[in-house]
Order: sequence, then structure tokens, then C-alpha cells
Amino acid sequence: MDFDLLVIGSGLAGLYTALEFGDRGRVGLVTKRGLTDSSTALAQGGIAAVTSPDDDVNLHAQDTIRAGAGLCHEDVVETVVREGPRRVVELAQLGVEFTKEQDGGYDLGMEGGHSRRRILHAADLTGKAIEDALIDTLSRRANVDIFENHLALDLVVRGDGEGRRCRGAYVLSADGNVMSFAARATVLATGGAGKVYLITSNPDVSTGDGIAAAWRAGVAVANMEFFQFHPTCLFRPGAKTLPERSFLLSESLRGEGGVLLNKNGERFMVNYHQDADLGPRDVVARAIDQETKKAGTDHVFLDVTDMGKEKLEKRFPYIYSKCLEYGIDLAVEPAPVAPSAHYCCGGVLTDLSGRTELPGLYAVGEVACTGLHGANRLASNSLLEAVVFAKRAADAAAEEIGLAPEAEAAVAWNGKRVNDHEPVAVSHDWYLVRRTMRDFVGIVRSDRRLEMAAERLAVIRRNVDKLIATANLNHDLVELHNIVTVAQLIVHSAQARPESRGLHFNLDHPNRDDERCAKDTILRPDKVSSLTNN
Ligand code: SIN
Repeated sequence: MDFDLLVIGSGLAGLYTALEFGDRGRVGLVTKRGLTDSSTALAQGGIAAVTSPDDDVNLHAQDTIRAGAGLCHEDVVETVVREGPRRVVELAQLGVEFTKEQDGGYDLGMEGGHSRRRILHAADLTGKAIEDALIDTLSRRANVDIFENHLALDLVVRGDGEGRRCRGAYVLSADGNVMSFAARATVLATGGAGKVYLITSNPDVSTGDGIAAAWRAGVAVANMEFFQFHPTCLFRPGAKTLPERSFLLSESLRGEGGVLLNKNGERFMVNYHQDADLGPRDVVARAIDQETKKAGTDHVFLDVTDMGKEKLEKRFPYIYSKCLEYGIDLAVEPAPVAPSAHYCCGGVLTDLSGRTELPGLYAVGEVACTGLHGANRLASNSLLEAVVFAKRAADAAAEEIGLAPEAEAAVAWNGKRVNDHEPVAVSHDWYLVRRTMRDFVGIVRSDRRLEMAAERLAVIRRNVDKLIATANLNHDLVELHNIVTVAQLIVHSAQARPESRGLHFNLDHPNRDDERCAKDTILRPDKVSSLTNN
């Protein structure tokens, strides 16, 4: 298979990159499950952008920078908040129906850390509305070939030194064969890595595949210690299936007046932040962690009863009806909630056009670390970042492929498949990675906990490296290899930051240390040999 542009992933970042590339060449779009299996499709809250006369891009920039706790790149913030409103108009032109007020203006939502109402939403299923519109448009493009149920295993890298270049990807096809997809430019849009943790709001596909593949290809990653926990996932310990297992109660419920209550029914956020329930996510998640530890429970409550049934049904139809299905009437009773791993603020290091350090390779969306989020992402800035960078990467790739060598058939993947893999060992290690991350690398960390996590993950990594080198491949094994790699990157980055900042809180270094630590944590594979076995 030969393409001009290969896009890996089918959330907003991947779909919009393919669309914006237009007819500038042949596009292959690879996605490991169905087209709609992505975090985008689950996004409830919306997309933050300045569209109202009461608002200002400078305010949006200030809010983003304040949340980012000293690590946002101001040039990136500026670019995203300025270009965002144009991208939103384009989404609307492609058929995304953002909810409007009676006077025809957008109904703008509010979320933590924002100083103005600026969240465009399609009721409480914004991501799905975006996915549906983009897939509809893309499926009519004659120059785009879509490969569902195809899992990208590794990047094809050819050449040495300055001539080193990404030339496509090895892909495990739906029928279990490893194929090579050659391309003049390749875009990672594989989304996040929430499955690294035992409790996550992410879909099952979020296994950090792009970050792990980039790392194996020798590409730098940054700021992996900053993993955002969403404060209010519905607490359903017995739930087995999605979406109930990790059902989000959108932050916009608090934007419309919802409040958090502790075990005794008391509002506690007033004791933690001047903006109380609308404080930044890191503060709210840590406050919940503290309240639950104090009370010996594992959840608090979100009370939205003041909103009333009529408003809940109109503004939050999906959340309200799903909760009713799960036996909770939000109009009359508070819902049990707990924080869950939600968003990876770090990722593959990119420039302002989504270029990574490997020529021919781009990264867009949650897989990337662009410098927008710093140490803590402002709510609803992620769809915005995805759409702004998708356009920039599509344009940069189109320009680059004019100069890039022809796509050439890649050499065969080096996997010698001799053994059946051992499914019991694979599922055991899946659990161990996720449990280790929850217990030792969660909302509150310590030097000892990080050290214990590093030791445990190294043992698991050795086992998985052996399996992946010899066993027949399937999704579970490949994803396990990816989650353990990403888990190690998170721990290593956390150990490299002896302070507390944004989403990274370490009991042994409880204060922010601007003098020594106000910089990104950049890891390069050739400098961290302990994490580059395979
Ligand atoms: C939410 O609706 O609370 C999630 C929005 C986000 O994570 O940006």
C-alpha cells in the first residue's frame, strides 16, 4: 500500500487532518477499531473558543496559561486561541450543529478555570456530533482509503543520521497479517493513554499506541508526568460494560450550578479554592482525593438537583437519561462520583505545525505535546487544539510531500512469530500495569511510590518485551506493550520533576520550584536506555 499521507487514528485530530489535506494526494486512514471508536466520540462538554462579544482571545489565553501552571508555551497558546474561532466556523459549515439560543447565538457553556462562558456544545454529545459530521464528509472523498480494524504496530523508519525519515507504518490487518503502509508523510492521531490507569473515563482504544510507537522509533516525548484526572466520573464499582463502567458527569454540570458534597453532605470545594466547584481540575481532583481519604470512602457526591428536571432534560439529555438507566435520578438525588484518569497532557514532542523530531512524522491531538496545556489542561481546550493543529499539520505535510521522496514499499516487519502468546499472562500484566499506576502514580505521588512503580514496571516490561518478540500478535498483546511503555515514561518523567506543579503532586516535594523546575520534561530514547529495550 502506498500513500502520500498516512493518518493513524480516527478521532477529531485524524479525521480533520485527512479532510484538510484535501485533494493534495492519496490519503490512507488507519484506525484500530471502528471509525467512531475514539475519545472524541465520548466528549460531552464541548470545544472552547471565543465567539461572543463579551469575550476576548486574550482572556482565553490568560485562562489557559493560568491553568497550565507556568509551563504553557505562550506562542502556542496565542496561535490556538486566535485560530480556534475560524476552525469552529468550519466545523459548523461541515454540518456540526452546535446548540444555539433562541436569538440564534451560540448557547455557551461554562467549565472550571474559564473566566467567561465560551464552550460551544451540541447538547451533551458534542464529540459525537463532530465525529458524525466529519465521517460523513470524509466518506465522500474519493482520494481517501479508510482501513477499520487495522492496528498500527510500529513506524517504518529508513536512513541514518540526517537522512533518517519516517516512511509509513507497519499495520496489523483485520485478518491478522502484518502489512506495510508506505507514505511520504505520516500523522499520528492515536489519541490518549487513559488505559494505563485502572480507572479511566477513556474508551478502550486509549492505550497510548502513538506515544509508544514514536518512542520505539527514537522520537522525543515530553511532559508525560502531567496526567489529568477528571474529578467527576460516575462511581459504579460493579459496572462491567461501557459506557456505564467509566461514565463521565461533564464539568459543565458544575458550570450550570452543580456542587460537590462530601460524605456528610457538606460543600467542601469552598475550603480549597476561591472558585470553589469551578476551580481548576487539578485542584478539584486533589480536593476529592483528600476528602475521600479523610472520610475513609472512595467517592464524593455531585449534586445538580437545583437545576431541576426540565433544564437537565434540555441541556444534558444524554447524561440525564443514562443516569436514570443506571438508577440515579439527577433531578432528585446527588450522584456518587470519583476522579478518573482522563487526559494525557504530555505526548510526542511537536512544533507549531505538528512536526515531530523525526522528518516525515507528525503528531496531532492528545498523542502530541504541543506546549498548549503546560502542567494542566484547561477544560474543553483539547478539541480546540486537535482541530487547530490538524489544519496546521495537513498544510505542513502537503508542503513537505512535494519535497519528500516517493513512498516506497517498506521492508518486511522484523517479527518472527513462533509461539502462541499466553493470554493469561497478558491479562495478568494488563491488570498489574494499571493497578500499579493507580496505586503509586495517581493524583498524589511520593518518591517511594514512584520508585516502587518503576521497579514493578521494569519487571513487567521485560516479560512483555520477550512475548512481543516471538509470539503471534493480537491487539491485547500489542496494547499491553504500549501501555507498559507509556507507564514507564510517565513514571520516569515524574521522577525527573522534584517539585509539585499542576497535575503532578509529590508529597516529598509539595511546593512549586520555579527556580529549578520551570521547564518541560523532555525524554529522548537515546538518552534513557533503560526504557528502550524493544
Ligand atoms: C467534560 O465534559 O467535563 C470533559 C471536557 C474536557 O475534558 O475537556
